[in-house]
Amino acid sequence: MIHVQQDKNVKNRHLLHSSIFNTTLRNWHTLKTELSPNNLMYPVFIVEDDDIIQPIDSMPGVSRYGIKKLKDHLEPLVKKGLSSVLLFGVIDTLPKDEQGTHASSLENPIIRAVPKLRSWFPSLTIACDVCLCPYTSHGHCGILFADGTIDNNASIHRIAEIAVAYAQAGAHIVAPSDMMDGRIGKIKNNLDKHNMGHKTAVLSYTAKFASGFYGPFRDAAKSQPAFGDRKCYQLPPGSTGLALRAAARDVSEGADMLMVKPGLSYLDILKEIKQAYPEYPIFVYQVSGEYAMIHHAAKLRAVDFQTALSEILISFRRAGADVIISYFTPVILDWIQLKSKI
Ligand code: PBG
Ligand code: ZN
Repeated sequence: MIHVQQDKNVKNRHLLHSSIFNTTLRNWHTLKTELSPNNLMYPVFIVEDDDIIQPIDSMPGVSRYGIKKLKDHLEPLVKKGLSSVLLFGVIDTLPKDEQGTHASSLENPIIRAVPKLRSWFPSLTIACDVCLCPYTSHGHCGILFADGTIDNNASIHRIAEIAVAYAQAGAHIVAPSDMMDGRIGKIKNNLDKHNMGHKTAVLSYTAKFASGFYGPFRDAAKSQPAFGDRKCYQLPPGSTGLALRAAARDVSEGADMLMVKPGLSYLDILKEIKQAYPEYPIFVYQVSGEYAMIHHAAKLRAVDFQTALSEILISFRRAGADVIISYFTPVILDWIQLKSKI
């Protein structure tokens, strides 16, 4: 029998400075948290008027774009490696009603934009947010009963209709953010029925919490609920259990990819979902309130912008995010380019 002697120098095993004294060594220890353009998805707001750029006050540096202006905005980003976008439609003059008719009408900005984006940027993967709130008169994410509660069956029927309309316009990915029960299965079935199932991925907003960080987005997308809140369909911030059940539900219904949202306040959920479903690409959405918070903190010099944002992006990757959805994507692409030149 070999007698393993207690190593007198055992303490040397945990002297960490020897692992991190130059950039290459530090990189070896952080490979899994590296960022490339493929780890990023860029959210974009598209409006009815093709020739307009509307800056969004609550999200300094972010604008809503008409489709022609969006072409100019995206061109340099695609050259820098941008590989995917997440599109949100915003309507102003088109009427809103109880069914969200213009979520899937021919005048919908997304339905008009997708074929053009496909032809201008053949390498770009296009995801479309699927929801009713920007198009309903009441601003809720589903269809309501007369008493104001959610009619889940009517809602998922409508959501699946909208998903097919976006797929038929050319979306590679449909991303339902409505949080209704059973929508993933319904969308999958409807895509299949219209022979779109094999060429449309479903990215589920799986663990989407009823968060205080969506304020600027509702301003941007003009999707503030007219009454009440979204707590009856979005998850309570304290519940890991419901997040895991939502993931189990969406996986069983055939989701292709899963999302956790918001990001920074839900890193533990992100990690649990990645660990429970390592077979699935996991997305994290750094939402509008997180964007605004970082922007303002940096502007007030409470933090250094690049240091703080980079650290947060690393935390998403470390917790298990494969793809980060971020309004900061343009500046992050610049950083990635610069780094690759060093
Ligand atoms: C609406 C939707 C929201 C976001 C994406 N889709 C907000 C909400 O639920 O009210 C939030 C995105 C952000 O804050 O950046 N279905
Ligand atoms: Zn919604």
